[in-house]
Amino acid sequence: MMARFTILKTVLVLGSLCALVAACGKGEGGGGGGADGPESIQVPEIAVSTAAADIAKGEATFKTKGCVACHKVGGGKLVGPDLKGVTARRSIKWMERMILHPEIMIKEDATAKELLKTHFTPMANQNVNPSEELPFILAYLKSHES
Ligand code: HEC
Repeated sequence: MMARFTILKTVLVLGSLCALVAACGKGEGGGGGGADGPESIQVPEIAVSTAAADIAKGEATFKTKGCVACHKVGGGKLVGPDLKGVTARRSIKWMERMILHPEIMIKEDATAKELLKTHFTPMANQNVNPSEELPFILAYLKSHES
């Protein structure tokens, strides 16, 4: 009984440590190029739209590009993390790098490496177009920030 209680406490302490580390990672960079990911991965400057039409286009693109095979947006983990709220925990630049070049991110970026450790499956490169598809996907994800 006593031992079990101690384990539970340890898990709780570890859990809050992780939350702290994650918060630090966002502010100061979790290694591998910081909170925005490795600078060596070129990504466009995107101002995320909040227009309803762009969000709808993003939702459609999220389906046609096959993201839905591995991600839910609200409702929990599938193959990959639930993407509801992802725009609150990652920077726009980081997400751009992850969506355009996941195969490099899981080798070079500390946060992506950690994600791979818990999800076991490497995210697939879906050949998302950086100017014609990516901005809308980001608008869609941003609209599900909370
Ligand atoms: C084959 C399954 C698969 C597909 C398809 C896929 N992903 Fe992923 N995604 C993952 C996994 C698994 C991770 C966690 C990192 C890893 O293990 O590589 C991830 C991570 C992410 C993350 C970071 C999540 C976080 O919590 O920081 C974002 C953002 C993301 N994916 C967006 C997308 C988008 C947008 C698409 C469609 C263009 C997509 N993914 C397609 C499996 C997938």
